[in-house]
Amino acid sequence: MNKEVTGFSKLSKEEKINWIADRYFSNPKESISILKQYWNSDESLQMLHDDFIENTISNFYLPFGIAPNFLINGNYYSVPMAIEESSVVAAASKSAKFWAARGGFKTTILGTEKIGQVHFLYHGKSEKLEKFFSETKPKFFSNTESLTKNMQKRGGGILDIKLKNKTAELENYYQLHATFETKDSMGANFINSCLEQFAKTLKEEALLYNNFTEDEKDITVIMSILSNFVPNCVVRAEVSCKVEDLAEKHIQNPREFAEKFIQAVKIAEIEPYRAVTHNKGIMNGIDAVVLATGNDFRAVEAGIHAYASRKGTYSSLSHAKIENDIFSFWMEIPLALGTVGGLTSLHPLVKIALEILQKPSAQELMQIVAATGLAQNFAALRSLTTTGIQDGHMKMHINNILNQFQANITERNKVKMHFENHTITHAAVVEYIEKLRN
Ligand code: MEV
Repeated sequence: MNKEVTGFSKLSKEEKINWIADRYFSNPKESISILKQYWNSDESLQMLHDDFIENTISNFYLPFGIAPNFLINGNYYSVPMAIEESSVVAAASKSAKFWAARGGFKTTILGTEKIGQVHFLYHGKSEKLEKFFSETKPKFFSNTESLTKNMQKRGGGILDIKLKNKTAELENYYQLHATFETKDSMGANFINSCLEQFAKTLKEEALLYNNFTEDEKDITVIMSILSNFVPNCVVRAEVSCKVEDLAEKHIQNPREFAEKFIQAVKIAEIEPYRAVTHNKGIMNGIDAVVLATGNDFRAVEAGIHAYASRKGTYSSLSHAKIENDIFSFWMEIPLALGTVGGLTSLHPLVKIALEILQKPSAQELMQIVAATGLAQNFAALRSLTTTGIQDGHMKMHINNILNQFQANITERNKVKMHFENHTITHAAVVEYIEKLRN
């Protein structure tokens, strides 16, 4: 059957499902009923979700969990997390509790500046473009007044616009490099609207500029778009305590633990293969909160990984040391987040997540997200350098295997009891269930 289609978006939801079913499902009746099982019975709620994107045929659920006991700058938070990986919420909760008993997380905002660029081509003398830019600069601000008025009332707006000459790297290529303060909104729409107006002003004013030749007047705007690399929109999160205070059930010798832990961080600082996995552990925490609070996790991921490579090699985002018998573990990460606008006022669960976080400002959310990332990293490194990761991972994974086998309550209890003191592997659990059933 033909798998090419035109006008798919114009089909009704039912027609879209049937089109897919005819071409891709081996058991169309059953697959269609699964798709529909995930529709919300509340029609208006379903319509809201349908309209978030184009061609919606169903909803895709992720667990929405809570990691309690996050003590951040003296305040307790219960952190909402949307994530599918079994052990993440458990690890964050464990880590939060561990650090709450040792003073909690200290977080600081190091900057909130966002960036956007107009990329354009100019054929002429760069000095003439520089003169044109400095004479025209006020126009870039005045022509965007209608866009910036509301943002200025909230204390934000355009911070600065610079002309950058990039011709050494690419022929005729220049940029308007603008910086913004967007307060509690992530600011993507605001920034992109301002940039598109800058581009318009740039083209119009160049045409009117008497000192330009005809070639110089003919500026080609390639694109106007915000940058997801935000190295000056950064938050720092830190935990610290006396080395001896690290002691607990799995940390019998705190100094040995701290030294091994620091060594693990140092490996991630110099070894990109390890750094990627190390940072992935941090992102387990970060993405889950970013997603639950309706923020753009792709933007956050792109920005953070670019930041992790800013010195030329991909490296660990977190660092650790012992100084004067104090163990400290910290990281600085760029985070462009919003707590107003976008999905934050549309998605009912996002509103709930923000309410659980006591309606934070964007800066507060940056701090909560960073603390969760650091907690996750601590949990992963603690397991890796002590019991090994599989112990906790497989305990949580047992549930997935039990669900896969549709185990009943008695089977679940028997399996869990048996694996309290047997090594958990996928094969061993499967074998045990099969033995129970025979
Ligand atoms: C798994 O999702 C994350 C870890 O691999 C992170 C790490 O290795 O640090 C456990």
